[in-house]
Amino acid sequence: MKKMWGGRFNKKSDKLLEEFNGSIGFDYKLYEVDIKGSIAHAKMLTKIGVLKEKEEKKIIDGLNEILSEIESGSFEFKLELEDIHMNIEKVLTDKIGSLGKKLHTGRSRNDQVAVDLRMYSKEKTLEIMEALLDLLLVIIESADDKKDVILPGYTHLQGAQPVRLGFHYMSYFEMFKRDFERFKDSYKRTDILPLGCGALAGVNYDNDRFFLADQLQFKNISLNAMDSVSDRDFVIEIINSCSITMMHLSRWCEELILWASNNYGFIEMDDSFSTGSSIMPQKKNPDAAELIRGKTGRVFGDLMSILTVMKGLPLAYNKDMQEDKECLFDAIETTIASLKVFSKMFGTITVNREKMLEATKKGFLNATDLADYLVGKGLEFRNCHEIVGKIVSDAVANNKTLEEYSLEKFKEFSKEIDEDVYSHINIEKCVENKISFGSTSMESVMYSININEIWLEREKNVLEIEKEI
Ligand code: ARG
Repeated sequence: MKKMWGGRFNKKSDKLLEEFNGSIGFDYKLYEVDIKGSIAHAKMLTKIGVLKEKEEKKIIDGLNEILSEIESGSFEFKLELEDIHMNIEKVLTDKIGSLGKKLHTGRSRNDQVAVDLRMYSKEKTLEIMEALLDLLLVIIESADDKKDVILPGYTHLQGAQPVRLGFHYMSYFEMFKRDFERFKDSYKRTDILPLGCGALAGVNYDNDRFFLADQLQFKNISLNAMDSVSDRDFVIEIINSCSITMMHLSRWCEELILWASNNYGFIEMDDSFSTGSSIMPQKKNPDAAELIRGKTGRVFGDLMSILTVMKGLPLAYNKDMQEDKECLFDAIETTIASLKVFSKMFGTITVNREKMLEATKKGFLNATDLADYLVGKGLEFRNCHEIVGKIVSDAVANNKTLEEYSLEKFKEFSKEIDEDVYSHINIEKCVENKISFGSTSMESVMYSININEIWLEREKNVLEIEKEI
């Protein structure tokens, strides 16, 4: 088959090159945005007098026919035609004759692929944002439901201080909220039209890029043709945001895997989100959580790929940039799938509140509160720390908890300790004594739930509007 760019060539492409060079194996995913972009381009060509209205109609009808053929599965993608752009253009020409060859007037594959990728990225960013909002809703509902469950908070994976489960959940809410904001922010920089810039220098037609932007629902148009066809920052930003989201999911999965283990027994995964062992009959494995943790590595790899692809490229377009697609598609698809699986899996978890509370009774999680109790009696914090450290050391040696100390025994360490100490080191009391803004007390947790509920409602509405545009 003669290449669309074959005029100056006297030999056919080597089969090996054809296979190596082709991107149709993955960029077929851009068919819908590519056709949309071509329809807008055809309309613009009519507007500036390059096409006649009748010609425009024929081209658009042909493109729509191709769209339905692709959607019904009857369209045959050909490797010899290299990529999605030339596959569509060639079939269009087969259908409507040489008029099809006019479509590429004032356009290069460089601005074509850039606009396709931006349209695709915009759509997928909204999809990820929607999946994030769904997750945030599950988190906030569970946090509200589990706000009175108390469990150990850890540092260094060592029991530190008791916290509310609702508080723990809401800390993840904050992380995913930031992820949402990151996608929302990069969306603004993706929403810039590169079409109409040609190969790199602009085109010899007084084209109407504002019309194109309007047709394709872009809020802004790019200002420099060379940058427009060379810029893949938006791809990097999206994969970066995917990576951070996956990192957050992975951290949480790690915790849930630990919590579901026999040693913790804090939660039980639902049967519908667990798998068994082919040899050990007792096993109930948290495969979904483990897979999300595992797939996080893939997405980090996607980020490293695109950064490395771009780092040495002179202006403007270079074929290296064709490598932007697989990592973008992979990062987006993996992140969406992981968010969906996680939300559903998390929603089916059973919490063992007794086990969680029991765990707060070991490990002296109330030691800091005992020190603060002594501060209340007028002692300097460092001295209180020292006194409580000695009590803990004694308790470890005698296998006791702080609550088990008699007042007499306490007084051996500090005369300032009185009967009221027991109410101060009570675990529930330790939680409620956290009165600083943003703490784990019921009031703080409720405040964060309430304020975030309003945020969530607002973002849901904004996203709905953006999706409709
Ligand atoms: N398949 C190409 C890509 O994805 C399209 C752009 C080709 N441009 C070119 N000048 N060869 O990057």
